[in-house]
Amino acid sequence: MGQYLSRRDYEEQIAASRDERMDWWRRARFGMFVHYGLYAHYGRNEWVQVLENIPVPEYEKTADAFAPRPGCPREWAQLAVEAGMKYMVLTTKHHEGFCLWDTKMTDFNSVKRGPGRDIVAEYVEACREFGLKIGFYYSLMDWHHPDGWRCMTDSDAAERFRQFTRGCVRELMSNYGPIDILWYDVSRPLESYDGWGSLETNQMARQLQPGLIINNRSKLDEDFGTPEGHVAIQDRDWEACMTFNGISWGYVPSDQAAPDSYNVRGILRMLHTACAGSGNLLLNIGPMPDGSVPAEAVGPLRQVGRWLENFGEVVYGPRERGQPTCCGWANATVSGNKVYLWTRLWPDGPAGIGGFKTALKSARLIGDDRSIAFEQHDERIILMDLPKESPDPIANRAVIELEFTEPPIHAIGSRYRHLQWLQ
Ligand code: GLC
Repeated sequence: MGQYLSRRDYEEQIAASRDERMDWWRRARFGMFVHYGLYAHYGRNEWVQVLENIPVPEYEKTADAFAPRPGCPREWAQLAVEAGMKYMVLTTKHHEGFCLWDTKMTDFNSVKRGPGRDIVAEYVEACREFGLKIGFYYSLMDWHHPDGWRCMTDSDAAERFRQFTRGCVRELMSNYGPIDILWYDVSRPLESYDGWGSLETNQMARQLQPGLIINNRSKLDEDFGTPEGHVAIQDRDWEACMTFNGISWGYVPSDQAAPDSYNVRGILRMLHTACAGSGNLLLNIGPMPDGSVPAEAVGPLRQVGRWLENFGEVVYGPRERGQPTCCGWANATVSGNKVYLWTRLWPDGPAGIGGFKTALKSARLIGDDRSIAFEQHDERIILMDLPKESPDPIANRAVIELEFTEPPIHAIGSRYRHLQWLQ
């Protein structure tokens, strides 16, 4: 393999630099996914080409109608900042094969067709302007490239397609300054790291971008796992990617998406699970054909941003994995000696918390230095003087910090022998 390391040596090498490379990512917690491509024109899911069996020549014509409004990447970036997100990931090429950058690898791109502009360059500039870290999504699977399926049965086509893939990644990693995340998707049909040449391509990418973080979808484990469509805690660095509406990654008309859309509480619930499991949340928007942010996303994202202005200290930053179930009125996250209770129901009187065996030192509301009076006995904490109403007008999701004398030990139901299986 010449200049390239074996898989074992490569994995050892990237593991050794992982803490340093991923420090910002582990603190960031919350990012914006942007699915933007020709499928926006159809407004019926980013898989429309395959799901509706549209022939390539017919689909291809959409490229000439592709007309992002000037400045739309700035609007995405601005909204991401308003939402309290710290990074973005843009689909530079989705499965349809249309490249949003000035590539020499194919003419099917946004400079040769449609707007005649390098949308990736505009996006990178917008991320830099707003201080966001920059991620590139890249679909390995390609429905447009003639070798995209031929590579399955024809070894020459497979080699050409590997070279095409490597050439695209090389351009993305060479032409836009420092890039933070390479986010691969769908490894069909080659289905192995050998098939895709991922070991070599990813080493090349890291040589070009020494700080790069790579996801796990090129058939190598790389830096982080990518649970999709559910915020599922994993035993490694992980990032859950979620659509905004439960229907589609690509644009669907707002009036139809709205009933299923996530509201501010839904998004906070996802963020809570991400924090509790020491993972990240990558929440998607599918811009409209002209690149505008879909209306149903704007309000909830701004509200989440306002909530994060008040409670961000419990979200950003490294967390331990684990979420004690300690009461019905709040969900918990843990950080060292501290437990954060993200309230779900505001208790209208003294509020009980069961199961902590460790001594509580203090309790306070995030955003308020005044401490909350408490009693603690028999593995039961009672907060005595909470305000009558939730101090969070945005989502009724205030956060209470409990600081213990040492990392807390917790076991629910210890008074009730029937529940010993919980411990
Ligand atoms: C899936 C879908 C794709 C989407 C991706 C996001 O793999 O094929 O449309 O971009 O998930 O994670």
